[in-house]
Amino acid sequence: MFISARSFEEYRAMFALTEHDLSLRILDCPGGAAGFVAEAGARGTDAVAVDPQYGADRGRLGELALREIEHRHTELVDGDADFVWTWFEGPEQYTRMRSEAARAFARDIAARPDRYVEGSLPHLPFPDRSFDLVLSSHLLFSYGEQMDEDFHREALLELVRVSRWQVRLYPLFLHTRFRRYPALEEMREALAGYGIASRVEPVDYACDPGDQEMLVLECADRGALPAREPDPDAARRHHDPVRWRHLDAASERTASSEA
Ligand SMILES: C[S@@+](CC[C@H](N)C(=O)[O-])C[C@H]1O[C@@H](n2cnc3c(N)ncnc32)[C@H](O)[C@@H]1O
Repeated sequence: MFISARSFEEYRAMFALTEHDLSLRILDCPGGAAGFVAEAGARGTDAVAVDPQYGADRGRLGELALREIEHRHTELVDGDADFVWTWFEGPEQYTRMRSEAARAFARDIAARPDRYVEGSLPHLPFPDRSFDLVLSSHLLFSYGEQMDEDFHREALLELVRVSRWQVRLYPLFLHTRFRRYPALEEMREALAGYGIASRVEPVDYACDPGDQEMLVLECADRGALPAREPDPDAARRHHDPVRWRHLDAASERTASSEA
């Protein structure tokens, strides 16, 4: 799977984000080299990204994404790629926006490393209901031929677990075939069994043929989620360095005043 760098403006369109949405605490999963957290952070949004690639090699991701964008540019100019030019004006604008996003990501992950947390679905390193809104683009459903239905079911429940309000997912189609993920309705029924209402909504964004819809999951009134196998990474799980930093600082102050 390659690393991609969608821009803040693409996120806003893919997930139909309003100004109210952007005033909430948001998780981007997977963040890849997208510019969302960087730009949202610069606008004052409390946003965090999680991705398995935010480990030791995180400093190389911006550069890798730029190389991928260059490769894609050649395909787009040569007409070798299926692409719907309704949102982007053409290959030049596409390449400019994605490159700016990759550079904004590279600057931000260096300047605000706590905002980029290493982690993988289906076990995210955050406590229940840590975020108001969880955004998930170009992993679930897109890679439905590489990741099986059990993974999808577990990953969806995990995204729901860490959300207080909503999860939004985009796109709903297999990126290799440009058709809807075949088990989408089955997944929605499984979620409904836990009191998670869902709906498919049209969005004002498209790149690939058929990708003009997002899935919204309502998490506020959900029931209890199923018990799960223990997470092999459990020791790292209940630590969100951004949200609970103030608690660490408070306990350090208490410890030093008691000493
Ligand atoms: C195509 S990129 C999408 C990135 C970003 N959302 C964007 O639109 O630019 C897919 C990302 O999924 C990440 N990924 C792969 N397996 C994952 C997993 N099990 N859990 C979370 N992220 C995963 C990859 O590291 C990669 O950065």
